[in-house]
Amino acid sequence: MTAARPAGGDPLLELRNISKHFGSVIALKDISTTVRAGQVTCVLGDNGAGKSTLIKILSGVFAPDAGELLFDGAPAHFGSPRKALDAGIATVYQDLAMVPLMAVWRNFFLGSEPTKGWGPLRVFDRATARRVTRAELAGMGIDIRDTDQPVGTLSGGERQSVAIARAVHFGARLLILDEPTSALGVKQAGVVLRYIVQARERGLGVIFITHNPQHAYPVGDRFLILKRGRSLGDFAKSEISRDEMTQLMAGGTELEELGHELDRVAGDDPAMGAVAEQITAEAVAKGPDGPAVDGPAAPG
Ligand SMILES: Nc1ncnc2c1ncn2[C@@H]1O[C@H](COP(=O)(O)OP(=O)(O)OP(=O)(O)O)[C@@H](O)[C@H]1O
Ligand SMILES: [Mg+2]
Repeated sequence: MTAARPAGGDPLLELRNISKHFGSVIALKDISTTVRAGQVTCVLGDNGAGKSTLIKILSGVFAPDAGELLFDGAPAHFGSPRKALDAGIATVYQDLAMVPLMAVWRNFFLGSEPTKGWGPLRVFDRATARRVTRAELAGMGIDIRDTDQPVGTLSGGERQSVAIARAVHFGARLLILDEPTSALGVKQAGVVLRYIVQARERGLGVIFITHNPQHAYPVGDRFLILKRGRSLGDFAKSEISRDEMTQLMAGGTELEELGHELDRVAGDDPAMGAVAEQITAEAVAKGPDGPAVDGPAAPG
């Protein structure tokens, strides 16, 4: 496939103050970050942080309410997932659009089947499909012995890997992975992380969505941390350590708020009061949030 491009350079994708709301719910507010070719930008955040909303904007499912997307330096308006895909943005969703009972090679070409012959004689070229699938998987260092086996018999990590190899083969320039490791055990997660690195080394820009800093930090070049639709910061790797990031995500401030809230709700109930007190104490022990307040790229 394509030769690896040097990392860095101009951003492949730039998000400038992206906002999106659903009715009165602010799903995203003023989100900015960049993704470069040959680099991995991680998007971290807990449930409801806005991660899926963000990738739906990038993959053409939603239009942002405000803000700007620049792809290759030019303003981009992907009106549909097809348009985003045509521009080279491939999204691998957690539930993976694959057919479990179909062979690996069939799934690899699902929707883009190679054909041979002409007109009514046109047929799906199975030999080519098998050969290309095997070559592409091997090229990514993916060891699936038999591409005739149904996708349903692969492990979760292997399935994610096939999806990544497929995106690379069909010319993706930006690969978006929505929580590819969240349902996996440590070993399988490690396998997927390895393919993320492979994709990066092939020169793709990668957006890796996860709620796990332990998965993000080793492979990430940039980290956007979301909380309830807001950015807690957009950091280059040199600007934040793994510990700072973990602390930022599990920061004490939220616990403290929860403690106060419970306190208010508790009223005269001694049991609730005790719980509130305990949570507040825990929050104090944890200390305040990490570098969110004065982090280098934290929003002003
Ligand atoms: N189509 C929608 N209509 C209304 N509200 C929505 C819609 N999609 C998302 N939301 C709301 O926007 C917020 C962000 O949701 P989103 O799915 O982006 O979070 P997430 O970070 O992907 O969470 P999770 O880790 O649980 O997948 C949530 O409050 C959610 O309820
Ligand atoms: Mg989500």
